[in-house]
Amino acid sequence: MKFYLPTKVFFEDGYKDSIIEIEKLGNTFLIITGKSSKKNKSLDELVDVLKKLNKKFEIFDETLENPPKEMLYKIIDKFGKNWDVIVGLGGGSPMDAAKAIAVLCKNDIKVEDLYDNLKYNSASKILCIPTTSGTGSEVTQYSVLTINNVKKGFKHDVIFPNVSILEPKYTLTLSKELTISTALDALSHAVESFLSLRASEFSKLYALEAIKLIKQNLNKLVEDLQNYELRKKIMLASFYAGIAISLTGTTIAHSLGYSLTSEKGIKHGLATAVFLPFEVKNSGKEEEIKEILGDPLEFLKSLNVSIEFSIEDEEIERWSNRVLNSSHVKVTPGNYNLNKIREAYKWVIEKSGLYGGSK
Ligand SMILES: [Fe+2]
Repeated sequence: MKFYLPTKVFFEDGYKDSIIEIEKLGNTFLIITGKSSKKNKSLDELVDVLKKLNKKFEIFDETLENPPKEMLYKIIDKFGKNWDVIVGLGGGSPMDAAKAIAVLCKNDIKVEDLYDNLKYNSASKILCIPTTSGTGSEVTQYSVLTINNVKKGFKHDVIFPNVSILEPKYTLTLSKELTISTALDALSHAVESFLSLRASEFSKLYALEAIKLIKQNLNKLVEDLQNYELRKKIMLASFYAGIAISLTGTTIAHSLGYSLTSEKGIKHGLATAVFLPFEVKNSGKEEEIKEILGDPLEFLKSLNVSIEFSIEDEEIERWSNRVLNSSHVKVTPGNYNLNKIREAYKWVIEKSGLYGGSK
């Protein structure tokens, strides 16, 4: 078994102790963020800290969801590569984009080369500040980008964030829909990690705690979005689930969901979570999951999860082949072949009761 987490994590610190670590990271900071970091005040607080420390910084606040490679080139064109620290401030997209930019700053490679581990071994320092609870990117060596309309993750130890700052208060302004879809991403990470053929005693510890926290607190939070204690519990769950996947990776539900996101615009957390009941049922570990989460399909229905898009048989065929060639297949219990992958899509669309689109 291996446990490796090089990230210094601060939880509810309010820049009290973390400011010392930020000081040590370097002198120039490029902040990758979106518009919501203004609303939740996380950007103002970071800017104040950087000013107090006399750091030079620039802000890119036009991060697109599921970062496309063209956006990464645009950032490099506009701001150059000479940055000590890249900050990912926001949800998974700014953090994943920051990780990619950090590698591109230190290496003369193309975005596609990020997927070849042998082509680089360095990155600018990475500071992550999540403002949603779901991605876990603040404690993982993964970044998921969109290359030619296909969502695909890369993995490298050099993109583990050096420092991550977790403040549940930044999630207080999240809408109900975003709260649910991001928390379901965390739930998917935890369940998939628990089921993974690469699961260990270490990873299961974090995965089970994350599932428990989500089961006990998410429904309550959805009815009480301003409740700080519940926000804190869900942010902890996301953090734990992130640690779990840093150890095991995700499994087939993520691979199945990627095409729903890149081709139908379904939010990542929803796109993966709808496949959880199928994956759990075929894992041989259904009873273990049910003991903590109850029935996964019932849990999704209790949150009114519904996905809508039009779909053709040709698309299911193309997506299924994509999943078959993904690395997730060999770490998922249940021997997934092309037939079984097709069956997973058909189950969600025809049988789950979660699909509200047209076929
Ligand atoms: Fe995810």
